Amino acid sequence: MRIFKTSIFIFAIILLIGCRGDHSTKPPIHPNPNMDSQDYFKAYSVNTFFADSSAMRMPVEGTIAQSETFGNVEFLTGKDHAGNLINDPIFMTVDMADRGKDRFDIYCAVCHGPKGDGQGNIMKYKYPIPPTSFQQDWLIEQPDGHYFDVITNGIRTMPSYKHQIPVEDRWAIISYVRQLQEEAQ
Ligand code: HEC
Repeated sequence: MRIFKTSIFIFAIILLIGCRGDHSTKPPIHPNPNMDSQDYFKAYSVNTFFADSSAMRMPVEGTIAQSETFGNVEFLTGKDHAGNLINDPIFMTVDMADRGKDRFDIYCAVCHGPKGDGQGNIMKYKYPIPPTSFQQDWLIEQPDGHYFDVITNGIRTMPSYKHQIPVEDRWAIISYVRQLQEEAQ
């Protein structure tokens, strides 16, 4: 029995000594490698598997960087590829006007008034610059893209609403503004 205990003790000592972190060029013991170490190529190295012998591959066709805008430029900016403001785009439909009214009453009416005549509640509090009335010819003649731009980026003393109002809702609001303008004619 005593020999047994002694041999366990010696064995434990050897084991512990073995664990002392001596410098070694060999990799540490790794009983279950899983997929931890795999073959890989360094950047710019050669890989004859591919026709161009380059280990580095191009992103697959159609890959879009996160910083690039997705989808339709006109929808997202209110401008065409040449940078001109668009008018009456196909994605802005009269059906959106209901949703537009809902959003307009939340975001715009307080300043521009529920009818868009510039007489919102804010005028009772002596807002220094009267919000523009949408019933003016010069504004009616502006393309839809201008309205989109104003909501997105603000204009002069009007703040930007791009963080509050998603793109689709901005178009819905414009659809409703057009309806208000027609009703006022
Ligand atoms: C905090 C008040 C306020 C809110 C809310 C507001 N506006 Fe305005 N808006 C203004 C003021 C003030 C002006 C006039 C800016 C100036 O001339 O300095 C203006 C101007 C405008 C114009 C005229 C731009 C031009 O060409 O001169 C449009 C179009 C417009 N707003 C649309 C909207 C829409 C759509 C909403 C809702 C999404 C909205 N505004 C919300 C205050 C507001």
